[in-house]
Amino acid sequence: MTDTEKINLIRDSMPAVQNSVYLNAGSVGPLSTITHGALQQSSQQELTEGRASISGYLSFKKTTVRLRRAFAKLVKATPEEIALTHHTSDGMNIVAHGLNWQPGDEVITTDLEHPGGLFPLYILRQRQGVAVKVVEIPTDASPEEIVARFEAAITPRTRLLAFSHVAWNTSVRLPMEEIVAMGHRHYVLSLVDAAQAVGAVPLDLPAGGVDFYAMPGQKWLCGPESTGALYVRKDHLNLLSPTFVGYQSMDDRGIYDLSGNYMPAPDARRYEVATIYRPGIAAMVANLTWLDEAIGWEWIHARIARLAQYARQKLEQLAGVTVITPPGPHAGLLSFNLDDYDPARVMTKLAEDNIVLRFIGQPYSLRISTGFYNTEADIDKLIAALQNILAGDPEVLSHFG
Ligand SMILES: Cc1ncc(COP(=O)(O)O)c(C=O)c1O
Repeated sequence: MTDTEKINLIRDSMPAVQNSVYLNAGSVGPLSTITHGALQQSSQQELTEGRASISGYLSFKKTTVRLRRAFAKLVKATPEEIALTHHTSDGMNIVAHGLNWQPGDEVITTDLEHPGGLFPLYILRQRQGVAVKVVEIPTDASPEEIVARFEAAITPRTRLLAFSHVAWNTSVRLPMEEIVAMGHRHYVLSLVDAAQAVGAVPLDLPAGGVDFYAMPGQKWLCGPESTGALYVRKDHLNLLSPTFVGYQSMDDRGIYDLSGNYMPAPDARRYEVATIYRPGIAAMVANLTWLDEAIGWEWIHARIARLAQYARQKLEQLAGVTVITPPGPHAGLLSFNLDDYDPARVMTKLAEDNIVLRFIGQPYSLRISTGFYNTEADIDKLIAALQNILAGDPEVLSHFG
């Protein structure tokens, strides 16, 4: 099958990418008919069979096992290192609040973090007296300089580096493995926010020595909302205490007493809590199976990078456009600005042409996400629409909202 035939097939399964120029997986990816079909089927089963049948429960348990396996395969981990979560922020909170902090300990983060990764650290400061140090990452910093900036902030009190693999605002891809390795040389662990990376870039977390990796399902993986996973390196299970617990946190024998003891699951399931939305889990399994077996991760990652590069080239050729994202290895995010034009108003104008992207507050800019389902023609449509805007008066663009 040629690439064009493959892309056409993919696009046939994703109506939203046919009905618009869909450039915002960074917020939420488009659903496929496979994913939606599984969601519908599971929901229908809940309706007609009820939700309390033994067979329904057993089949749901199997589906959760399949989902942990699918996430594990994606990041080259073992299923025992995967906890199912509801989103990236869930994973960031589990790790931030699960370490044994002492007042005066330090966590180092960056000025590029999303509230989902940043606010859990603020709570640590408020409740535990942990110092939150923010390292500035200028957009033109080289990978070596980024690592050096983290290293310069480390002191004997530093316990954790918490940073995004790919920044949601400037779209820079941080040298994760190098940061993690440097941290380990100082006996400091790393918690990585994978919201803009998982599904967009190849991953081998064990090879990279990554300690904790918090992933969403609804963005680059194109899964339903309220799905996600947290990777916890096998040898860190005893280091990370669960904060929220419930019946799902126990091992399969369900052992607990009334003196304050329960037997936690032997693996990362100990960070899972209680009842979750079954159709979402079933749909995420179908979704990841489709991405892996029918399309292929290698192909997906290569295509995302190629399209991001294509978009970058085209944007750079446009007079009046400044690309914010530094050159170098990209994920699929790209941030830019139309000089003199208000990003929110440009976004509104593009929406009139059915071009879906978003503006970012800090730095105030526009951001696109090139997905594996996008085409060069999608990018060309965006470029043509931007050219149109650039030919007009910045003041005549309608206000956002
Ligand atoms: C870097 C980053 N972290 C966290 C989030 C929050 O994602 P989630 O809703 O999966 O917690 C986002 C996206 O909105 C993000 O871009």
